[in-house]
Amino acid sequence: MSKATKTPRKRPQYAAITAVHGYVPPDVLTNAKLAQMVDTSDQWIVARTGIKERRILTGAGLGTSHMGAQAVRGLLAKTATPASAVELLICATTTPDFVFPSTANLICDMAGIRNVGSFDVQAACSGFVYALTIAAQFIASGQYRKIVVVGADKMSAIIDYTDRATCVLFGDGAGAVLVEPSRRYGIIDTLLCSDGSGMRHLHQKAGGSRMPPTAETVAKRLHYVHQEGASVYKFAIARMADVAVALMKRNRLLSEDIDWLVPHQANKRIIEATAKRMKLSADRVMMTIHKYGNTTAATIPLCLWDYEARLKAGDRLLMAAFGGGFTWGGLYLTWAYDGKRK
Ligand code: ACO
Repeated sequence: MSKATKTPRKRPQYAAITAVHGYVPPDVLTNAKLAQMVDTSDQWIVARTGIKERRILTGAGLGTSHMGAQAVRGLLAKTATPASAVELLICATTTPDFVFPSTANLICDMAGIRNVGSFDVQAACSGFVYALTIAAQFIASGQYRKIVVVGADKMSAIIDYTDRATCVLFGDGAGAVLVEPSRRYGIIDTLLCSDGSGMRHLHQKAGGSRMPPTAETVAKRLHYVHQEGASVYKFAIARMADVAVALMKRNRLLSEDIDWLVPHQANKRIIEATAKRMKLSADRVMMTIHKYGNTTAATIPLCLWDYEARLKAGDRLLMAAFGGGFTWGGLYLTWAYDGKRK
C-alpha cells in the first residue's frame, strides 16, 4: 500500500459560506399603496413593524422557483462556478410552486444543475437556518464539497390582501449561499427548536391533506396565512432572544465578541429586543425589514447579500430566526471572505 493511501483523508473542520447572492422582484408595494387597499397607514406600519415597503412578484406563471433560480444563477456567475460543480441544492420555502415536485428540483432545472440531490425544507421563517444546518452536516461528513442553500418565498401568494393585520408584513424574495469546506472559517455551532402546539397561532388552514382545497375553503379564504399577531409576537420576542443568548453562552461569547447579529426580519421591534438581550448595539445588527418586509425563508440570506460588502474574513456572525410551527433556531459562524465577491 502506498504512503498516500495509508494517510486518512483529513475531514474538513467547518462548513463555510463562500458566497451569497439575492433576488427581489422589481415591483414595489409601498405602505401608501397598502393604505389604499386596507384600513391602515404608513405611520402605523412603520411604528409597529419598521416596514416601509416590500417587493411583490407579479407576472403569470411565476412562482418561488423563479426567484430562487435568479438568486442561484447570480451566485454561480459571481463565483464562476459551473452548474455541473454543484453537488446538492437545498431550498427552504413555505410557498413551494407545487406540493410536488420540490421547488429545489425546479430551481436546479432552471439553473442548469443536473443529476444532483435536491430537496425542500419547510420550517417557515426558520427555514434557512434549518437548511443551512443540514448543509453543514453534509460538509462535515465529507460527503459533499459544494452545496447551494436557497431561502425563497413568494408570500404574496398566500396573503389575504383584505386582512390588514397580515398583509402589511410580508414580501417576496430569494437568497442563495454557496457552502464549502474550510479549515479556517465557517459554522461553529447550530441550534434547532420547534413546538408544534404553536400551530394554532400561525398557519394556513386549508390546501393541505388535512383540509384539501374545495370551493368552500376558497370562498372562506382559508388558503391564506392565519396569524394571531399578538400571540406570535410574544413567542417570537422570547424565543429569538433565547436562541441567540443560548448560542452565546455555550460558545462563551460576550456581546463584544459578536460582529453581526443576522436576525430573521419579521418585526423591527422583535429584532431590537433580541439585540438588547444580547447587549448588542444597533450598528452590529443587520436590518433590511424597511425595504423588503418579512420574506420568510429569504430574510437571512437577503441580509447577508445586502451587507456582504461590509463583512470581513473572520467576522463572527450569529443568526437567529423564529417562525410558524412554531420553529426557531440559530447558527454561530465565522465569515469566510473580505467584502463583495465579484
Ligand atoms: N393598520 C392599522 N391597525 C392595525 C393593523 C394595520 N395594518 N393591523 C392591526 N391593527 C390594529 C389591530 O386591529 C388592533 O386594533 P384594536 O386594538 O382596535 O383591536 C391594534 O392594531 C393592535 O393590534 P395588535 O395585533 O395588538 O398589534 P401589535 O402591536 O401586536 O402589532 C403585529 C401587530 C405587527 C402583527 C405584531 O403582532 C407582530 O409583529 N407579530 C409577530 C409576527 C411574526 O413574528 N411572525 C412570525 C414569522 S411569520 C412566519 O413564520 C410565516
